[in-house]
Amino acid sequence: MLLNGVMSSKAEAFDHWIRSGFADMNTALEELYFAQDDRANVDGIGDPIKAAIRDEGQTYVVGLLREGNTGDGFDSAFGVLGSVGLYLGALRRHELTNPAREERSPFREASSLALHVGASLGMAPRFATGHLATHNLAIGGLRKSFTRLPDEILFLDENTRGILAFQRAADALGRIVPIGVTSAIVAELFEAAQQALDAVLRCNERLFAQLDVERFFYSVRPYYKPYRVGRFEYRGANAGDFSGINEIDLLLGLCQASDPYYAQLLVDKMLFMLPPDQARLRDCMTRRSLLDEFLRLLDSGEPGGPWVGANARAFLDTCERYAHTARQHHDQLVARFIEHPARTLDARHQQGLTASGPPLPVLLRALEILRDLRCAAPRDDLATRHADLARLRAKLGR
Ligand code: HEM
Repeated sequence: MLLNGVMSSKAEAFDHWIRSGFADMNTALEELYFAQDDRANVDGIGDPIKAAIRDEGQTYVVGLLREGNTGDGFDSAFGVLGSVGLYLGALRRHELTNPAREERSPFREASSLALHVGASLGMAPRFATGHLATHNLAIGGLRKSFTRLPDEILFLDENTRGILAFQRAADALGRIVPIGVTSAIVAELFEAAQQALDAVLRCNERLFAQLDVERFFYSVRPYYKPYRVGRFEYRGANAGDFSGINEIDLLLGLCQASDPYYAQLLVDKMLFMLPPDQARLRDCMTRRSLLDEFLRLLDSGEPGGPWVGANARAFLDTCERYAHTARQHHDQLVARFIEHPARTLDARHQQGLTASGPPLPVLLRALEILRDLRCAAPRDDLATRHADLARLRAKLGR
């Protein structure tokens, strides 16, 4: 879709529509839904606007499909995948498609375009977090979003800041591997990781304090439901679809790629990440974790040298900061913005509540497992690193 380095006019026009008419129409629909007594209802509301989104988007999609060129540059193709993905995500949100009642997507051309571009990029054929966060190109300050609602913008911006901060922490920890845990240099890298994790804590705090619960629940979250592309249903995007968080899990050693539960999760999210993130994650899966490295030194009786004690203490402090981010995400954000408002929803609207598809209690249990792994919580039913961290702490007299 790049012609001599310039985005094709069709790709550009689609991109422009997503940033303008599409966002305006979604915003208008959200205001109509939100004004009802039953804010979760979309049936029979704003039907001409829904039809306009469907038909205007279809014109751009058909034009791009006819152009048939997806091989002219990553950025342009990634942009098109985001635009067609946002379009399909909105059609799902407004119930113009629903995977529960269909065997294939009724939007054949959009599916073909998404499948073609997704396969050519090596990504799932739907919009992913990267489209709305770390690779959401601002043009004149305007980034892509479903609506213009301030709560959606706040959510996207804080998610992006959170992801960037996790990436900085992962980067710092990854740099420890080649120099080793006995090096004099390591303390600064742990310090950089801790500062980055503090930035995550602040993003979470801002979201907790500033995001409106009802607006998030009724007007933002529904765009993240699963939808079909062609015959298959693809789970919704979530702020976790980047490798940094898993790099931290694996580098610290709190989660292990040999654990089938955790490995399954990595496989599941692989195609929702950008190819460079996929490569980083694969690389991390082959490394020995920092915790294992400290424990190996401890057990072998090898001399650790003058810095290893301070490095191990900095490692434990980093783990504590990280555990704090995990508790915040689950006990504060998920509880306040998903779990509590879901209790007031009548049974009719319970289906399709989550981005990944399973019923809410199942999703909550899965998120709890991740929290407890990251906190190294004592659990009989889960292989957390509780005992190993306790052993390291005891050795350091903590
Ligand atoms: C209002 C704020 C937020 C809410 C309500 C929220 C809620 C959720 C939910 C419900 C999921 C599971 C999605 C599914 O599978 O259906 C999830 C996943 C995830 N979210 Fe958030 N989230 C929020 C903000 C953030 C932020 C700021 C970050 C930081 C980057 C973040 C990181 C993650 C990660 C990494 C995952 C994947 C699971 C994991 O590895 O823990 N979230 N979130």
